[in-house]
Amino acid sequence: MSDQPLKVALLGCGVVGSQVARLLDEHADDMAARVGAPLTLVGALVRDASKPRDGVRDELLVTDPEVLWERSPDIVVELMGGIEPARTLLLEAMARGASVVTANKALLAQDGAALHDAAAEHHVDLAFEASVAGAIPLLRPLKESLAGDRVLRVLGIVNGTTNYILTRMDEAGADYADALREAQELGYAEADPTADVEGHDAAAKAAILAGLAFHSRVTLDDVACQGISGVTASDVEAARAMGHVIKLLAVAESTDGGTAIGVRVNPAMVPRTHPLASVREAFNAVFVEAEAAGDLMFYGRGAGGAPTASAVLGDLVALARNRVLGARDPGESTYAALPISDPGRATARHYLSIDVDDRAGVLARVASCFAEHGVSIETLRQDGRGDDAVLVVVTHAAAGDDISATVAALRGVDAVRDVPTVMQVIGD
Ligand code: NAP
Ligand code: HSE
Repeated sequence: MSDQPLKVALLGCGVVGSQVARLLDEHADDMAARVGAPLTLVGALVRDASKPRDGVRDELLVTDPEVLWERSPDIVVELMGGIEPARTLLLEAMARGASVVTANKALLAQDGAALHDAAAEHHVDLAFEASVAGAIPLLRPLKESLAGDRVLRVLGIVNGTTNYILTRMDEAGADYADALREAQELGYAEADPTADVEGHDAAAKAAILAGLAFHSRVTLDDVACQGISGVTASDVEAARAMGHVIKLLAVAESTDGGTAIGVRVNPAMVPRTHPLASVREAFNAVFVEAEAAGDLMFYGRGAGGAPTASAVLGDLVALARNRVLGARDPGESTYAALPISDPGRATARHYLSIDVDDRAGVLARVASCFAEHGVSIETLRQDGRGDDAVLVVVTHAAAGDDISATVAALRGVDAVRDVPTVMQVIGD
């Protein structure tokens, strides 16, 4: 054991940062033994140093980053969130020779390349386990444990807020607005829930997962994204009737015979027999399909101060060990440099609900719209409602563009009143 402590600085001491500070203190002896040197917190950058923070001594709170740099941290942990000043501060920390840990998915998905390049240039480590699915050990398994395998597909429930809302809609029959309000009251959803419910938070995580799984650079702009704000109680009921449940999925998959990556976020119907269907409330889970390993599932808490701090501290211990041993983590792996495939060409089974007039010949005209666009119908059910009816169609696997063309054609049929829902259906 070295007597020389490793100096740790926090950028941000809020929900996650304050738990990191608490656990660093409470687990100090164990961490020192695991690292081979004590870890000492030398400061925490905040906006308002007068705000009381349990377990963090006042003299550690600073509002000027220069004060932190003067304390020469060996490892800087960024838990501020947002793009700036987090990006500039992380680049500065690495330029000064510090290894860095961050949970900032927004920054990694938008400008991860700048961070990875700086880590390589300055021969330091960059670790970000907590940026996707909070406490769940997922990124190191993808990067290290599966380094000898080939990942085929990653399907993730990576946003707890939306999973909570969809769970309440499924289990309590709540409509979207009520379930969202409940999520806000419980502190899962923010007052402005846009980033969660429109899928932007999950899209940032999908970009990070896709990059790691397929050894390529993937950014937020590469992710086709649809959120859950359009999901209705009747969609949830229809899914239930089919033995499915609606989940917001982040999907990263190998396409075009392994020469490209498909990456998207969208609500999808998942069979109740699929392991992801049982992921309830605000929990996260990521299902990985790999060539040799087969199916793997990673499950746990995707958010919250202490759970997220657990993942941050795992990174911190790993990087501190590297410092003690004079080693480095494997850096970014982008050798495959795969392009992003056209999301419109991604194939999946689709569910469509179609409101029609209930009269002779309508079914044949509807069916011809599918046939004209090469979309094969797997099942079709009609629910009569007086003069009108709802046709519930599940297709065989079809490209998104062909489904969109079919929907456009259906909307041109005078007996079709509306096509309120089109949703992907995941296989068992
Ligand atoms: P938070 O509670 O809002 O804390 C942010 C901290 O950063 C606060 O201490 C704040 O200072 C400080 N800060 C923000 N802007 C600053 C600036 N310009 N200058 C100085 N200090 C600044 O955020 P959080 O929930 O802990 O999240 C931190 C990161 O973890 C984010 O990237 C988030 O996406 C990620 N993450 C969070 C969770 C979660 O469950 N919360 C889960 C996974 C990942 P003040 O306290 O003085 O305002
Ligand atoms: N808002 C996110 C969620 C927090 O609901 O999962 C973790 O990124």
